[in-house]
Amino acid sequence: MDIPCLWIFAAFCVLSVYQVNTSLLAPVLKLEEKILDGESTEITCSLPTNETLDVVLQIVAKVNFSECRNDKGPPPVTTCQLDATSQMHGTEVTCEAHFVAKSKTEIIYVHTDPKFTDCPEKVTWVEGHEETLKCKAEGYTPPVVHCYFNKIKVKEGEKFNVSRSMAGRQECKAVNSFDMTSTKVTVTVEYKPKILNLGAVPLPPVPEGENVTLTCEAEGIPPPTYTWEGPSAEIQTSPDNRTITIPGVKQGNYGTYVCRAQNKHGEDTQTLTIYQPGSNRGFKPETLFAKVLLMLIPASLMYCVH
Ligand SMILES: *[C@@H]1O[C@H](CO)[C@@H](O)[C@H](O)[C@H]1NC(C)=O
Ligand SMILES: *[C@@H]1O[C@H](CO)[C@@H](O)[C@H](O)[C@H]1NC(C)=O
Ligand SMILES: *[C@@H]1O[C@H](CO)[C@@H](O)[C@H](O)[C@H]1NC(C)=O
Ligand SMILES: *[C@@H]1O[C@H](CO)[C@@H](O)[C@H](O)[C@H]1NC(C)=O
Ligand SMILES: *[C@@H]1O[C@H](CO)[C@@H](O)[C@H](O)[C@H]1NC(C)=O
Repeated sequence: MDIPCLWIFAAFCVLSVYQVNTSLLAPVLKLEEKILDGESTEITCSLPTNETLDVVLQIVAKVNFSECRNDKGPPPVTTCQLDATSQMHGTEVTCEAHFVAKSKTEIIYVHTDPKFTDCPEKVTWVEGHEETLKCKAEGYTPPVVHCYFNKIKVKEGEKFNVSRSMAGRQECKAVNSFDMTSTKVTVTVEYKPKILNLGAVPLPPVPEGENVTLTCEAEGIPPPTYTWEGPSAEIQTSPDNRTITIPGVKQGNYGTYVCRAQNKHGEDTQTLTIYQPGSNRGFKPETLFAKVLLMLIPASLMYCVH
């Protein structure tokens, strides 16, 4: 066979295959043999195949069917009920097959830069508590969020223990394959009070009649409130309760004073004793030990010299 003949033959083959396929799949319409005025009749449309096909068989006519049912088969069939009336005489009916030929479903991914969607501007944590970092960002690819609390790097969703060094204006970054963005988070770390200093001016021993001031200094967030306990005799308290003044010390003022610093996370206390010169209120075992030692050294030296 020469080349043109081969072409004609090929075209014929394609044409035949096409014809075979369409004729094979042409829907077959069936009406009841005798349709009577005023009675219900059934019209069926089917595909001549023994396979289950994803096909829509639609019976088309200028009438309203009372009901239509689709069955995927095999074979695929659609059946419609029609309430026949004399007006329908001569109406044309056909059946159409609509193949639902679906490809695999694909998804469109659009790369977008990260955006913070739910990241607090301010957070308040309590020292030592376990927290989970919540700072969400959107974008494609899904961004990874990290916050930097001074030297501590925490990933979104990660658990961490709150430390005082995390406080301040901190940065959170959202990074994806497309871009990077950042936002600021103000972190407050609360913690229970700790008394840093409890001092007296002048320092004990305090002679009678002197004015004495006791000052308590504590750290803590929220700022602690101060309360004092001590001998019941008259004292004056400063407006912030941090300082008490004993105006002209009397016998009733000598004793131990307790400063208590409190906030909602706890409290700390420290004591200070106001005592008279010559009293043994300031007695400390270690000073006694030092005195004994100082007495013993010359004694032993003398012994050695002998
Ligand atoms: C459909 O029918 C053909 C022959 O008529 C048979 O060879 C084939 O196995 C049948 N397929 C199914 C799915 O029943
Ligand atoms: C089919 O029904 C609709 C409303 O249900 C009506 O408007 C229309 O005229 C009817 N068509 C025929 C051919 O009866
Ligand atoms: C937090 O501290 C506690 C006690 O020290 C420890 O058991 C826990 O594992 C810590 N949690 C984290 C996330 O580091
Ligand atoms: C104690 O304070 C009062 C009033 O502030 C003052 O008049 C008085 O001189 C002070 N006494 C001593 C011993 O410093
Ligand atoms: C000081 O103490 C008094 C009495 O305990 C209390 O009513 C007052 O609120 C306290 N003031 C401050 C600033 O804590």
